[in-house]
Amino acid sequence: MEYIIKIFVIEDDLMFGKMMKYTLEKEHNYDVTIFQSGEEFFEHIHLNPDIVTIDYNLPGMSGLDILKKIKNYNQNIATIIVSGQEEVKVAVEAYKRGADYYIIKNDHTFSELEHFINNLTQRVRLKKEVETLKEQIIDRSKYASIIGESKAALQTVKLIQKVEKSNVLALITGESGTGKEVVASAIHYNSNRRKGPFVAINIAAIPEDLIESELFGHEKGAFTGADSRRIGKFEEAKGGTILLDEIGEMEINLQTKLLRVLQEHKICRVGSNKEINLDVRILAATNQHLGQRVKEGKFREDLYYRLQGFLVHLPPLRERGNDVILLARHFLREFCLQNKLGEKTFSKEALEAMMEHSWPGNIRELKSFVERAALMSETEKIGLGDLVFSPAIN
Ligand SMILES: Nc1ncnc2c1ncn2[C@@H]1O[C@H](COP(=O)(O)OP(=O)(O)OP(=O)(O)O)[C@@H](O)[C@H]1O
Ligand SMILES: [Mg+2]
Repeated sequence: MEYIIKIFVIEDDLMFGKMMKYTLEKEHNYDVTIFQSGEEFFEHIHLNPDIVTIDYNLPGMSGLDILKKIKNYNQNIATIIVSGQEEVKVAVEAYKRGADYYIIKNDHTFSELEHFINNLTQRVRLKKEVETLKEQIIDRSKYASIIGESKAALQTVKLIQKVEKSNVLALITGESGTGKEVVASAIHYNSNRRKGPFVAINIAAIPEDLIESELFGHEKGAFTGADSRRIGKFEEAKGGTILLDEIGEMEINLQTKLLRVLQEHKICRVGSNKEINLDVRILAATNQHLGQRVKEGKFREDLYYRLQGFLVHLPPLRERGNDVILLARHFLREFCLQNKLGEKTFSKEALEAMMEHSWPGNIRELKSFVERAALMSETEKIGLGDLVFSPAIN
């Protein structure tokens, strides 16, 4: 059920207040209550309004005093100052004290109000969703390796929590550098297999003719050059987890074999017919659009559907808002510590520039970017001049 936004209107002009209530309630599902003074309002603040509009000129407490007191009570309450006359000084003061918007009573007041409240509503809703997610995550400290407070990051943690409890095959998708391997290892180290090994194998990095024996192992004499028995990655991961990274690159014949492994939980070493039971949780990762690979005839449709069972999609960094800053600070702290560079921080301008960059290489790009900047800067403050953004690849 959608959360209903609670708006408190502090307005001594009852007619005007009623018109505001009418405007806001007629088209939107808001819950609007009018108070005729600051004093009356504060008797009800414990009812937790999401947004408060404050008339500037009121008998009793002034608009600015109300604003200050609200902010002291709860920073998160969004506020709009509504003023009878345009006064720059008041507007500046209002913004300084943390008002989100300042509007003048005139012909446009109601449409402006609607517009601003819509903006604030989106913010409030996002915050609520994030709070709910945080509540649902049982113990965030278990996922310390996953930095991020964005809705995307929290949703990822929540999904991991679901996957780790079972033995399901999960597919982790996301652009390059979004943290697929980090997530796979978090699944392993938080699951009851954590004492077993975590084995990651990058399918794309191994020549096609070697991959089968790399995965399944081989018996002595299985092929030219196989001069001794070799254990494959599946067996190596016994009791633990295997990550089949870049699964989209797997050659189609091998996909057929993998599908059998997924169905039967058994493997055969190359050069042998003996079936070996597998006790391994299988994870797969890809930065490719697997559906597209199916259309191109390069990926088996049945394997594709098998992999869709449990999807963990990692959104790109550019969709994770403030996480850019959390991650950058984290990487900076770590890098400075490891390299004995002393404590360094980013200037406001540097942080703004990082927020604006689109990070095509995602978190991996951000990490090396931060490390470069830390090395470049000669003082403890990293400024714009220390930043070197990689040019986009066209
Ligand atoms: N949420 C996160 N918090 C902290 N560090 C992260 C996070 N996600 C990724 N990283 C770091 O970013 C880098 C890239 O992560 P990772 O190798 O897991 O990405 P990937 O999605 O597997 O990339 P590729 O598709 O290129 O294989 C690593 O250094 C990793 O430690
Ligand atoms: Mg990877």
